[in-house]
Amino acid sequence: MDLWALSDLSVPWSLHVVATLRVAQHMAAGRNAIEDLASACGADAGALARLLRQLISKGVFEEPEPGRFVLNEAARGLLDEGLRMGLDLDGFGGRMARAWTSLLPAVRTGRAAYAEVHGRGFWEDLDAHPGIAAEFDELMGPGHGPQDPRVLIAEADWDRVRTVVDVGGGTGTLLAAVLRAHPGVSGTLVDLPRTVARSAPVFEAAGVSDRASTVGQSFFDPLPAGADVYLLKSVLADWPDAEARRILRRCAEAARPKGRVVILNGVGPGDREAPDLLMLVLVGGKGRTLAGFRQLAAEAGLEVRAAAPVAGRFLVECAVLP
Ligand SMILES: C[S@@+](CC[C@H](N)C(=O)[O-])C[C@H]1O[C@@H](n2cnc3c(N)ncnc32)[C@H](O)[C@@H]1O
Repeated sequence: MDLWALSDLSVPWSLHVVATLRVAQHMAAGRNAIEDLASACGADAGALARLLRQLISKGVFEEPEPGRFVLNEAARGLLDEGLRMGLDLDGFGGRMARAWTSLLPAVRTGRAAYAEVHGRGFWEDLDAHPGIAAEFDELMGPGHGPQDPRVLIAEADWDRVRTVVDVGGGTGTLLAAVLRAHPGVSGTLVDLPRTVARSAPVFEAAGVSDRASTVGQSFFDPLPAGADVYLLKSVLADWPDAEARRILRRCAEAARPKGRVVILNGVGPGDREAPDLLMLVLVGGKGRTLAGFRQLAAEAGLEVRAAAPVAGRFLVECAVLP
């Protein structure tokens, strides 16, 4: 294995730069001659050509004749706005990328790299930068494309479900898909106030606004009680054990006595944690094995009743302990 090639930072940084400069978008609009392209991007023509040739050596972009650059199949991926935004060094993508520069202290201390680089923790930083928070919400929700509404292990179980609460549900893309798939079900989106404030167009687009409500609050506070299902998708891996336990306990309290708590993403089926370094870098959280999760759930008053892969995710269903 070529470790020099593996440690070559030129590729990730070059991709971040072309995304930030919207190089692919300008090429798609017909700006292909290097001088023209550089002027559209606000870049130095010589430096931009060098950057593009570096990427061409890795299979991204083509130079069919000297000084004329075009998209190839790989480069066309950069036309996807969700991907471009996730790489944009002027926005959320840049804050994520720069967090990696503190991987060493994160590994030495076990604490998130993000705070070391940006001076405050991930969630506090989003609180302080509304534009960055909006980009994050977009990336988590609509920017990720359509959501799969299969969030219970047995489809037949929906006959018994009337109400769903999506805890930390972002701007509501998953809840909207669930409500659309199940016309007899009503749902509540719980997330921070600034995030639920962006959910109305998502529910409108799905045609489910009449069955969707929102609560802008912290999931560390008491949750809306008495629903049949509490969803936690891509939430628990954001947090160390103490906080993850508190979130689960809030779900257990609200679901008592008969509701279920369903975990999507963040718990893996094997006996080893899946690679989750990004969670350490950004938020100091971690993925968990089913065995590790069982223990955490029990400490929060929950019992794992079923766990299975569904629609490319690993779902874990919990009941509330008496
Ligand atoms: C990784 S995102 C997952 C969003 C959504 N469930 C999904 O899968 O797309 C984590 C979510 O937790 C929310 N969040 C973070 N801290 C929170 C808190 N204290 N209370 C409520 N929501 C919070 C964020 O706003 C974000 O929407």
